[in-house]
Amino acid sequence: MSSRKRHLRILGLESSCDETAASVLEDGRVILSHVVASQADLHSRYGGVFPEMASRQHLRTFYPVVEQALKEAHVSLKDIDALAVTRGPGLPGSLVVGVNFAKGLALATGLPLIGVHHLEAHIYAAWIHFEGARPPQLPEFPLVILIVSGGHTELVWMEGHFRYRRLGGTRDDAAGEAFDKVARMLGLGYPGGPAIEKVAQSGNPRAFSFPRARLPGTWDFSFSGLKTAVLRTVETWKRTRQDPLPVADLAASFQEAVVDMLVEKTVAAALEYGAQGIVLTGGVSANQRLRTRLKEASPVPVYVPPLPLCTDNASMVAAAGHYRFLAGQQDPLDFDVLPTWPLTELTPPPHSERVQMEVPADKPK
Ligand code: KG4
Ligand code: ZN
Repeated sequence: MSSRKRHLRILGLESSCDETAASVLEDGRVILSHVVASQADLHSRYGGVFPEMASRQHLRTFYPVVEQALKEAHVSLKDIDALAVTRGPGLPGSLVVGVNFAKGLALATGLPLIGVHHLEAHIYAAWIHFEGARPPQLPEFPLVILIVSGGHTELVWMEGHFRYRRLGGTRDDAAGEAFDKVARMLGLGYPGGPAIEKVAQSGNPRAFSFPRARLPGTWDFSFSGLKTAVLRTVETWKRTRQDPLPVADLAASFQEAVVDMLVEKTVAAALEYGAQGIVLTGGVSANQRLRTRLKEASPVPVYVPPLPLCTDNASMVAAAGHYRFLAGQQDPLDFDVLPTWPLTELTPPPHSERVQMEVPADKPK
């Protein structure tokens, strides 16, 4: 019998919103390929994602994206041990395309299939790295997790693998949604987060004093008051002034308000519960100002995935799938998508205790 180490490889698939993505991940940590086909250009003229168009585009793109992911990883389907696909939450039509594609692959190859929660995938993005890159420090439990994306703003307590307790979340818009809506008001296009961050670099974050919703006694967030305040300011400016809208100052002041709210609550939660670290993840975690401010304010280590792992991708799906596979999860081929699926309703896999943070030495039998 060969004593050579056998690598465990997961093919991850993601299509919960407007990115079609496929990745090959080795041993739960090393990204061999990472392919993301963004539909941002397609949706930009609508100022947001057009669901019907998104699912049609996923249909067109999945096959070439998966082919490319296998090619770039220098593997074939025979070298893959399991498939992981985003089951929810997300846009129903988009999820169905990815899940059906994965089921087709599972049927054709006999590979085990694991349905993954999109937010759990965002969390596991903090554990992985690109092939050849220096592995990040492994986050130590217990952790406070801040997930900030286009659809979610969640503050979560993570005791150990697959063990979550929701502390709070947004009561209205998600942080990314607020970025996208304010970008539209300022004529900056879609996706709004990167556009706001770019113009904010030349703006004064103190030019406008926008409100910060503090919601004392809860771990919840609210961004609708801030969004309305920006809208009022823009409308008043246009009605009463002849000079051009100070887009950079408005963007910088808005961004600062969002960052203040997110940083204050997250650090307070970490202190209150005695977390060993903070994980910042989701599309909005690509924001440099947020990354810097959270690291400056936190008394414990802050783990933030590298930029390409912050926004939607399939490497993170493969990572979550990897740990669930190790813990004995394998889903039947008749599972349905779950467009609304709270993280708290996520069940741990059958043998959660099996999962170690270390890279596994051998493929599980
Ligand atoms: O996680 P993600 O790719 O998709 C969802 O699961 O929603 O997050 C997308 C969101 C969008 O709202 C986008 O505007 C925001 O993340 N985003 C950013 C930045 N990059 C992406 N927000 C602020 N600053 C950024 N640099
Ligand atoms: Zn996401």
